[in-house]
Amino acid sequence: MSQHTILTADRPTGKLHIGHYIGSLKNRVKLQNTGDYRTFIMIADMQALTDNARNPEKIRRSLTEVALDYLAVGIDPHKSTIFVQSQIPALNELTMYYLDLVTLARLKRNPTVKTEIKQKNFGESVPAGFLAYPVSQTADITAFKADTVPVGDDQEPMLEQAREIVRSFNSIYQRDVLVEPEGIFPPQGQGRLPGLDGNAKMSKSLDNAIYLSDSAEIVHQKVMKMYTDPNHIHVEDPGQIAGNIVFEYLDVFGTDKEYIKQLKAQYQAGGLGDVKVKRYLEEVLNAVLDPIRQRRQMYEQDLGEVYRILKQGSQAANEVAEQTLQEVRAAIGVNYFE
Ligand code: TRP
Repeated sequence: MSQHTILTADRPTGKLHIGHYIGSLKNRVKLQNTGDYRTFIMIADMQALTDNARNPEKIRRSLTEVALDYLAVGIDPHKSTIFVQSQIPALNELTMYYLDLVTLARLKRNPTVKTEIKQKNFGESVPAGFLAYPVSQTADITAFKADTVPVGDDQEPMLEQAREIVRSFNSIYQRDVLVEPEGIFPPQGQGRLPGLDGNAKMSKSLDNAIYLSDSAEIVHQKVMKMYTDPNHIHVEDPGQIAGNIVFEYLDVFGTDKEYIKQLKAQYQAGGLGDVKVKRYLEEVLNAVLDPIRQRRQMYEQDLGEVYRILKQGSQAANEVAEQTLQEVRAAIGVNYFE
């Protein structure tokens, strides 16, 4: 039996991009294939609804896209349990109990939530469910007794809040029912892929992303528009590597490190045009994306199968979460009729 349990999740608010691939998906496939972990992968549709309650169609559509992206990158439903948050009733009950262990002041102090409230211009009109989503996220993690949560650096405050709730719960109800989660973070400097425009973050809202589902033609158009060295105008001009996103992507995705080194030297000396480097990047990206596109196409033609996978995953996840819920009820003492 495996000793460790992983829970990871994404909010379905759009398709996943190559930044997600580098920041987490690739690692999930790797961890899944070690066989050292029981792996749960959750599509966090309820969390996505906390700031999209008036836009449920977007979440519904994105749920299918995210499921396709998961299967396309090689998440294997025989090795990982892929499931949908809203289909696990125990999560809601756990959330209610945990909400009583958290103060409003503490929720308002969560740095990630604070940043998001600012970005989304909520002000005082922040939906209560949004403010409280770290508590619901604690339910996601603890329902599966996940001890390992691979996430981006921005999620550390969530894990901190989850550990506080776990400690409060276990100490108040005098039982070690819940497990404190530890994060696994991307190695320094590797967690975040910059956007095509040079922005530090690749994101849908900035329209600077390459999606896992983009065709070779779209990738071509996007790469040709990529930000390079703005002072590198003529082919014979010496160019800058630092801050040059095309080379940053080559470092991340390229496998022929020797050739990339040569390209860099030539670019810095002068005599290498942006278009030639971009053509090579296209090749490199397509080598990564082609197998992903192929698997995606296969599943797109059989959405029935995709939904069966989600349904079966949700049933399996439900059993585990129900078991934890029984223990939680017994610890609090609300198991009156047993
Ligand atoms: N907040 C995470 C994100 O935006 C998604 C998420 C929901 C999550 N529940 C989780 C991540 C539990 C880790 C553990 O990407």
